[in-house]
Amino acid sequence: MAETQPDANGQTVDGASEYFRNTQRPKQLSKHEALAKEFIQYHVETNPDRRIAIVTSGGTTVPLEKQTVRFIDNFSAGTRGATSAEYFLQADYAVIFLHRQFSLLPYSRHYSHSTNCFLDFMDEADDGGVIVADEFQAKMRRVLQQYQHAKKNRLLLLLPFTTVTEYLYALRSLATLTKPLGPRTLFYLAAAVSDFFIPADRLEEHKIQSRETADGKGSGKKLIIDLDPVPKFLKTLVQQWAPKGSMVVSFKLETDPELLVSKAEESLSRYQHDCVIGNLLTTRKWEVVFITRDRGEKWIRVPKARRSKSFSGVENMVGLADHKKEPEQIDLEGGTVTEGMEIETLIIPELKRMHDDVIARQERH
Ligand code: PMT
Repeated sequence: MAETQPDANGQTVDGASEYFRNTQRPKQLSKHEALAKEFIQYHVETNPDRRIAIVTSGGTTVPLEKQTVRFIDNFSAGTRGATSAEYFLQADYAVIFLHRQFSLLPYSRHYSHSTNCFLDFMDEADDGGVIVADEFQAKMRRVLQQYQHAKKNRLLLLLPFTTVTEYLYALRSLATLTKPLGPRTLFYLAAAVSDFFIPADRLEEHKIQSRETADGKGSGKKLIIDLDPVPKFLKTLVQQWAPKGSMVVSFKLETDPELLVSKAEESLSRYQHDCVIGNLLTTRKWEVVFITRDRGEKWIRVPKARRSKSFSGVENMVGLADHKKEPEQIDLEGGTVTEGMEIETLIIPELKRMHDDVIARQERH
């Protein structure tokens, strides 16, 4: 699907509008819009300086059937999004967390999913009750305090999606609803969005059958899936949906170090937004590259001694995508709530500084 193409009346329509015309409005959208509207209004009325970050997180699914049994998915667990949301809250933003259902959530991420089973943090008390084990008390208290602060002050709104269509509808609605905030809105697009989907008119209603061949000798029916490209909605977000002067940060994920910087630069020049954060699949927890128009290429790295261990990461790939081999610029001290330093503790303050500039520029105009 091209980014723009003529419709039946010969009018030019962009790929995103075409996509919405041909997909069904998700059932839960009205409820999510009402929640978001109320959240935004509350912050506009109670604090005219409040900034809101719309953080997208996790992977999107592509259903293979209308009554979905099977779907295509991707690797994202939502770590980047959930971690970043915490640091945005710490930086005094209110956060709308648009996340893949059952992916990691801010705060509870410390105790959820298989590597961190919450039961491992518990102990039986002498009086027959259940308590947090001694060694986890300090950290859990900090996480709990931060969580309760966010909750009490209505600073965090959690909105789930599952499919790529639900994600795109929600993002469009949120962008439109944040209009009253203008430049105080920041879009932080960390979700791993599917690039391909099956249009509704080609989608099977029922579970696709995997019949044996009639003589019983065959090894089953082949499944050939014909996918259309999801239009690049980033351009539409920047040019049409997002409030005027708001800040838009997208992510670029690559696996080949040779491609990362050039692909991130290409994305910035094509979509004309504020910043692309490039990351490699294997090093994304330890380094990212910021690509901006004014400042060019800037690498942010967790200092070697403070890198957390990761099963999926490949530490000797750190630095491979950085052809300029700049010396490490940031080596902050400072505590985080997990072992090692989380790179988001460096990413979010940097973005906040950029957002200060964006807002100041708008105020001068
Ligand atoms: O969740 P984790 O396991 O922590 O992983 C985090 C992450 C690697 C998923 C995250 O850091 C990240 O890189 N997210 C973006 C991944 C991605 O979709 O990259 P991409 O190169 O496919 O897309 C680049 C940008 O285009 C995205 O910001 C997306 O908003 C945009 N896009 C994508 C698809 C589409 N149809 N239209 C778009 O505009």
